[in-house]
Amino acid sequence: MKNATRLRMKTEKDRRQFLKLAGFGALGLMTGSFLPFLDPLAAARNPNTASKKKFIPDLDISMTAHPDELALFPGERTRIWRYDAMVHKGDQSRVVPLPESYLGPVIKVRQGEKIRIRFENAIFEKSIIHWHGLHVPAIMDGHPRFVVPSGRSYLYEFEVKNRAGTYWYHPHPHRRTGVQVYQGLAGLLLVSDEEERSLGLPDGGYDVPLVIQDRTFDGDNQLVYLSGHGMEQMTGFLGDSILINGMPDFTLPVSTTAYRLRLLNGSNSRIFRLAWGDGRPLTVIGTDGGLLEKPVSRAYVFLAPGERIELWRDFSGAPVGYESALVSLPFDGGPMGSGRMGRGMRMSGRRGTRQTLLLGARFPVFKIKVTQKVKKRSTLPPRLAEIEPPRPDLADNVHRPRRFHLTGRHMQWSINGRVFQMEDVAGDEIVRLGSREIWEFHNTGGGMMPMMQTPHPMHLHGKQFRVLARSGLRHEGYVDAGWKDTVLLMPGESVKILVGFDDYPGLFLYHCHNLEHEDMGMMRNYLVKS
Ligand code: C2O
Ligand code: CU
Ligand code: CU
Repeated sequence: MKNATRLRMKTEKDRRQFLKLAGFGALGLMTGSFLPFLDPLAAARNPNTASKKKFIPDLDISMTAHPDELALFPGERTRIWRYDAMVHKGDQSRVVPLPESYLGPVIKVRQGEKIRIRFENAIFEKSIIHWHGLHVPAIMDGHPRFVVPSGRSYLYEFEVKNRAGTYWYHPHPHRRTGVQVYQGLAGLLLVSDEEERSLGLPDGGYDVPLVIQDRTFDGDNQLVYLSGHGMEQMTGFLGDSILINGMPDFTLPVSTTAYRLRLLNGSNSRIFRLAWGDGRPLTVIGTDGGLLEKPVSRAYVFLAPGERIELWRDFSGAPVGYESALVSLPFDGGPMGSGRMGRGMRMSGRRGTRQTLLLGARFPVFKIKVTQKVKKRSTLPPRLAEIEPPRPDLADNVHRPRRFHLTGRHMQWSINGRVFQMEDVAGDEIVRLGSREIWEFHNTGGGMMPMMQTPHPMHLHGKQFRVLARSGLRHEGYVDAGWKDTVLLMPGESVKILVGFDDYPGLFLYHCHNLEHEDMGMMRNYLVKS
């Protein structure tokens, strides 16, 4: 039997269950010919470099990941990795570079457009790009089994099916996602659609993307990642400076009018409890999967790695010179993040480290300053989008939701006790194409070990889902309405989601978006079986 074309099953029971569910005879499975999407070598033998014949792109670009350096601080330049893009066909203005930043360009696309992106890997290790939040076929999703070595490329061709919203892209090689994102590889992908354009929301300079990340720099202005201590990986990396769009000490200059602020938490593991410094409530108009049905108001909102939130803020009443800030309010990050354990190790593990900014500390995220008077009125639409209420009653497994327990044992995070294996799918990770399911995540993994209680933002590839319910809630900092692809579970919380598998068969990931947790294997495949 060819090893490469075989599904690796955890147990004989899983294997038999798979065969039954898949409707294959054992022989069919062994030849592997029925499972092209499970063939890990298919990508290597035939890396996706040749275009499909009938694919005529509206936007055709190449994106190169490469080492570079930036003058981030006075003194030595900071060595980073970044994505740079070139437009081969289509409107040049769809790719907006951020030259002052290590971040990749903002890519702007419209629903229904066909996009071709040739990824060129010019860093000195394997990589692949994942389009976080986009609904694309399995082979276009950037699964780690599709990594390409340095000097090679991977061709993406897909149609934009998503609603208007704030999506993003980042590398996804197994065990190296955390460090590659940390070095600078990430960028925004904004989708627009007709429904959104008809609203007349603030645009141009009044539509501001803000990528929030934390980084630590040494005395020579160089990035410092994990010290290598296992405990630090269990927590996740926490940097001591906050960067906005790759820039430290960021102030957003604004005019006296309304803004659409698109926030992405692009940090490896830091969770923010966002609020306005002047005490006004946040007006939330969108989340991961685009605009909400109507704006909602919150005193504060948690934003976990991978999550997006869109805010509306009108400065028209404010005088020139008015200053405010978006702040992160204090919260209990659990024993892991609060530094109650492993603190000494963290301090000794780094050179030139300034004070460690613990999870749940209070700090400003960025400042806002009103610098200009303009006569431009904007009113917040009371209704933003048509969103049908979720119908859990129509789920195929309404009486038997799939359960995923987020667990930690022996210095290892896992999902239902399992860790990532490249092509491994257990029987209870196979869903039927065309089905609609309820999934439950339970962050109750601490069990007898309260030290192991920590937040986990859970993310599904290839899908937007609806949050049906939460339990164990002790605060109001979530916006669960609308469409989501990443959902935060604080210690003790459980979340129920509704997700449809209408199209795109194949192997997709679900994982914790704390990138250090993900890299250590708190990630699994699910298989959409046709
Ligand atoms: Cu941002 Cu596997 O995802
Ligand atoms: Cu993703
Ligand atoms: Cu986690």
